[in-house]
Amino acid sequence: MKILTVPCNSPFKAYKLLLSIFAMASDPAKKDGLLYQSGFGNYFRSADPRCPDALPEGQNNPQTCPYGLYAEQLSGTAFTAPREHNKRTWFYRIRPSVIHRPFTTYPHGHFPHNWDGTPPNPNQLRWMPFPIPSATERPLDFVDGLHTLCGAGDPKVRHGCAVHIFTCNRSMDGKAFCNSDGDLLLIPQQGILYITTEFGKLTVGPGEITVIQQGMRFAVDVAGPTRGYVLEVFDNHFQLPQLGLIGANGLANPQDFWTPVALYDDAVKPYRIVNKFQGSLFEATQDHSPFDVVAWHGNYVPYKYALQNFVVINSVSVDHIDPSIFTVLTCPSDKPGTAIADFVIFPPRWGVAENTFRPPYYHRNCMSEFMGLIVGSYEAKEGGFLPGGASLHSIGTPHGPDAESFEKASLAELKPQRVADGTMAFMFETSLSLAVTKYGNEECRTVDEKYFECWQPLKSYFDPKNRNAPI
Ligand SMILES: [Fe+2]
Repeated sequence: MKILTVPCNSPFKAYKLLLSIFAMASDPAKKDGLLYQSGFGNYFRSADPRCPDALPEGQNNPQTCPYGLYAEQLSGTAFTAPREHNKRTWFYRIRPSVIHRPFTTYPHGHFPHNWDGTPPNPNQLRWMPFPIPSATERPLDFVDGLHTLCGAGDPKVRHGCAVHIFTCNRSMDGKAFCNSDGDLLLIPQQGILYITTEFGKLTVGPGEITVIQQGMRFAVDVAGPTRGYVLEVFDNHFQLPQLGLIGANGLANPQDFWTPVALYDDAVKPYRIVNKFQGSLFEATQDHSPFDVVAWHGNYVPYKYALQNFVVINSVSVDHIDPSIFTVLTCPSDKPGTAIADFVIFPPRWGVAENTFRPPYYHRNCMSEFMGLIVGSYEAKEGGFLPGGASLHSIGTPHGPDAESFEKASLAELKPQRVADGTMAFMFETSLSLAVTKYGNEECRTVDEKYFECWQPLKSYFDPKNRNAPI
């Protein structure tokens, strides 16, 4: 696979360049040299062209499979899940994945599910950009570079979510990763992820996201310093949000999701399969590539999406609409309309609302709000919240625009204006009360202790004698 490098002397320039590579065309096959299949939730069929007709006809599990392959099912839901939710894929592979030696503990210091490592902290939290170690001083691949910031719940009872940061500088040579605890939504912020899966290959750069679902094996190659965010959900798979009165189109359209095509690797060489299981990491060794799937069919697949394609819906009269209007994907809980986690973006768009304070309003929420910034500057915090950093506003914790943003927006002339050009911020909004890990609170050393100060200059403009006060 050809590896592209992108000059990154300016985050904005790099972002625009990456968009030109990854997100401007409608067909990703024209950009990274790989083939994809279009659609969210489709039933797909794919066979490596080196082995035509490798898929069995009319059945899943014939006595012998074409080309002497093994049949193996990967289940994404219970066998008995309702048909509209049922997810599974049949692999036809050179060797079944059961050929490996026993799992042993994989040492990893910063990827635990320990929500009790530090006392609860209801304060507004902001992290400065998480540093990427130099490859010469500390070689780090995607798995070893995963660090858990916050989360809640327990993968043993399949309820909860976690937020991780990854920083890495080398490829996962001879190593594959598999998460038994839930689905992973990956958001690269710097550098491109060249991902190999059992389903085929996909590349994902800043401005794109990918979802690798529970149990899917994958490996990440990188071409230099790389950083990004991960949302892990334990309960359910991600879905497109309901559109209700919006109608059949809008937000993230199903045709803009892309799934790889079969591309087998028949290498015989040592491989380490790293498995996250019940919040801990384990590894098993084997003597062949885990990416030896010659053909597959099913509806349980990894996929990617370019955020550029999000169709923004917003107010064209008055008022700031709730950020749920920007939901790309949602992982629902059992409570109607209440998410384990929503993935929400704040993309470039027009602001046209009249007589309206246009930035996000002041807010106390019954949900937790974790935010990250891929590029640019977020409209409610024009300084301090930086690409590669993050913030957490926990349940009940007040938040909103800083003093400077409030004053500027209160006095601005309300003509139609572009909002968030050159910027891509996102939010994970969860109904769970997130605990911050010891790494997130202390060991990362990027907590901005002065975050609270951005609201201190907010002053009273109250004048009981003047209903038409200038602010
Ligand atoms: Fe909020």
